[in-house]
Amino acid sequence: MQRTKIVDLLRRTDFGATVCVKGWVRTRRGSKSVNFIALNDGSTILNVQVVADVEKFDPEMLKLITTGACLAVEGTLVESQGAGQSVEVQATAIEVLGTCGSDYPMQKKGQTFEYMRQHAHMRLRTNTFGAVFRIRHNMAMAIHRYFHEHGFFYFNTPIITASDCEGAGQMFQVTTQNLYDLKHTEDGKIDYSNDFFGKTTSLTVSGQLEGELGATALGAIYTFGPTFRAENSNTPRHLAEFWMIEPEVAFYDINDNMDLAEDFIKYCVRWALDNCQDDLAFLNKMVDKTLLDRLHFVVEHDFVRLTYTEGIKILEEAIAGGRKFEFPVHWGIDLASEHERYLVEEHFKKPVILTDYPKEIKAFYMKLNEDGKTVRAMDVLFPQIGEIIGGSEREESYEKLMARIEELDIPMKDMWWYLDTRRFGTCPHSGFGLGFERLILFVTGMQNIRDVIPFPRTPKSADF
Ligand code: 4AD
Ligand code: MG
Repeated sequence: MQRTKIVDLLRRTDFGATVCVKGWVRTRRGSKSVNFIALNDGSTILNVQVVADVEKFDPEMLKLITTGACLAVEGTLVESQGAGQSVEVQATAIEVLGTCGSDYPMQKKGQTFEYMRQHAHMRLRTNTFGAVFRIRHNMAMAIHRYFHEHGFFYFNTPIITASDCEGAGQMFQVTTQNLYDLKHTEDGKIDYSNDFFGKTTSLTVSGQLEGELGATALGAIYTFGPTFRAENSNTPRHLAEFWMIEPEVAFYDINDNMDLAEDFIKYCVRWALDNCQDDLAFLNKMVDKTLLDRLHFVVEHDFVRLTYTEGIKILEEAIAGGRKFEFPVHWGIDLASEHERYLVEEHFKKPVILTDYPKEIKAFYMKLNEDGKTVRAMDVLFPQIGEIIGGSEREESYEKLMARIEELDIPMKDMWWYLDTRRFGTCPHSGFGLGFERLILFVTGMQNIRDVIPFPRTPKSADF
């Protein structure tokens, strides 16, 4: 018999119909005469209640219906008498597809998130992680829809690359060389000429540089792919492998770029509110009681826009007024998370877009302002998260870009193709990168980035 997904079954009203559901047992309770089995198949956070009259079934089979076991149930769809559910299934046949022993790691309720991480292969079957990963899927769909509806082309950039986009030296090297028998050149350096690509290669930290090639040909593109950073930051907001969305648009200046970022992120949050109601209601109840309020707030309010210099002034005034920070504040610092969150959560109580940062703390490709000190950078700062988006208007002048590259001593050998965009029909253009997991953190109210990607990669941790 054709199986019905629980998400569809719960909407049906053709009581009396014979139905088939398959899924995993969440709980089983009951008396000598009747058993109630809560079954979940992952299609929704909601369970369907299966009612089994004990006398109709083999007692040995019923014993196998334990938490975590996998069942196929046939029965009659009936209107539910119980509160909080519309339909239930009066079982006529139950097959145990997979038994589940008492060592099932998700058996006990109320485990810590750290325990869940150690059992990441099984945590997917819990309510919380089911909700998170259904929302994650919905956010991916929202992102593709937003850009498709706005005339952007989905553009795939390479994962293996020879250039360090952010210039931060945080790349994972890719090699097929035998590390026990490395060949060296005469001057003692490792000889890459016989390596797979004939040169040093790494996993990309960002698709932006190739994205700029796409934007200056197709007009407006976006990437959506995995990126890798070997930064040794053990924080609740950093992963070594994360997904990034990078739109890049020809003829956009920084203001157009900010408008795009704000509109895009609001669209994604609205999508979650419209399409993930059951999962959000669960997370709002169990994980973070202010979640729904925060999501509505972001959709309904304009983001504050101010310059880095103005931001520093506000922080300095706060310090003068007695506010304590762990890290010192003065013009030129790279803002710490505590500074960003002060501006967003305490001072403005709104998302903030900070612009025009000192050039020393930003990447080489950002457009230099007329003051010669700041660049046309823009970071979007969010409550609870801090930086969720980083972007800029790009330096379109070949001469100015070359000057920056020389100033920073960036190896030119592998950058010739990027510089060609500035030699052949250069144009003003802008773009940004949204950290996908940081968006999911915001939308789910989860506290740790390791809990919004199925199998997190962090320093000293690459299980599963
Ligand atoms: O600010 P970032 O480093 O900017 C870039 O990579 C640019 N090339 C983007 C562009 O202009 N096209 O990273 C962009 C975003 C950050 O704002 C943050 O949300 C996320 O990527 N991010 C991380 N997310 C998780 N773990 C990490 N280690 C991250 N590093 C950055
Ligand atoms: Mg950044």
